[in-house]
Amino acid sequence: MVILSNLEIKLKIKNFLIPFKNLIEKSFKIKIIRVRNQLVPDIPHSRIVSESTYSPWIKDVSFNEIYQVAKNYTLVDEYRMYEIYNLASQISSLDGDVLEVGTWRGGSSAIIQGALKKCNSNSKFFIADTFKGVVKAGSSKDTRYKGGEHSDASLENLRELYSKLKFPIPEILIGVFPDDHHELDIKKLSLVHSDVDAYDSTSGVIKWCLPRMVKGGIIIFDDYGFLGTEGVTRFVNELISDMLIKKEFLFIHNLNGHAILIKK
Ligand SMILES: C[S@@+](CC[C@H](N)C(=O)[O-])C[C@H]1O[C@@H](n2cnc3c(N)ncnc32)[C@H](O)[C@@H]1O
Repeated sequence: MVILSNLEIKLKIKNFLIPFKNLIEKSFKIKIIRVRNQLVPDIPHSRIVSESTYSPWIKDVSFNEIYQVAKNYTLVDEYRMYEIYNLASQISSLDGDVLEVGTWRGGSSAIIQGALKKCNSNSKFFIADTFKGVVKAGSSKDTRYKGGEHSDASLENLRELYSKLKFPIPEILIGVFPDDHHELDIKKLSLVHSDVDAYDSTSGVIKWCLPRMVKGGIIIFDDYGFLGTEGVTRFVNELISDMLIKKEFLFIHNLNGHAILIKK
């Protein structure tokens, strides 16, 4: 009789499972990564693999015309891009402007612009970025972000993408949002896409946007469901525990990593 140590048993199980993992990754075009949930004890993490299968983005021609180009200019995955596209289409007739803060090379903004264009929206679209990377990061609420990350983007990247798609370029707000834009005259917002990675930055953006949201208006938080951007998770969780916000907004945690607020 062969007696195996604990380590040997673990290795045997791991080796047995590897072909299944490879098959699943190949079939579903996903990567299975072991997430160590003890890294951030108050924000538990695990790799989420939904059991649903319906994937309308595969056959959505107008989405794909944009996404297949924009995917080379974004850090946002297809699931979140499709949700942004869908939500931007749905708010397109509301009376309010649209704002993205955290544009980087332009990918997610192009998806919004495509949806607004398809729906003949009258909303004005603003996009904001420092183009020098993440700011206001490194507070005790943040985990990975310290400031300066994602500085590898420029206006040239953005212009190139919009020219490939033949889309009009939205109004670009260069600098720290909202601090560098005191003159900005936006009174109503129907959609906000906040993708700024850090607690204080998200807080600044959202506190500026909240009083401007119109009824039915939507705030999409990127970074809510990801290891490394717990500052955003913490900010949103604090926000939704506030009684006033609960009365004014519906909250959705989408398992693609987005958090969504809808103004009642
Ligand atoms: C993860 S990237 C955005 C990714 C982008 N949405 C995409 O489609 O890939 C985060 C961006 O937020 C910007 N940023 C962070 N805080 C900001 C702030 N307060 N004002 C303006 N830009 C900010 C950074 O410069 C960086 O380009």
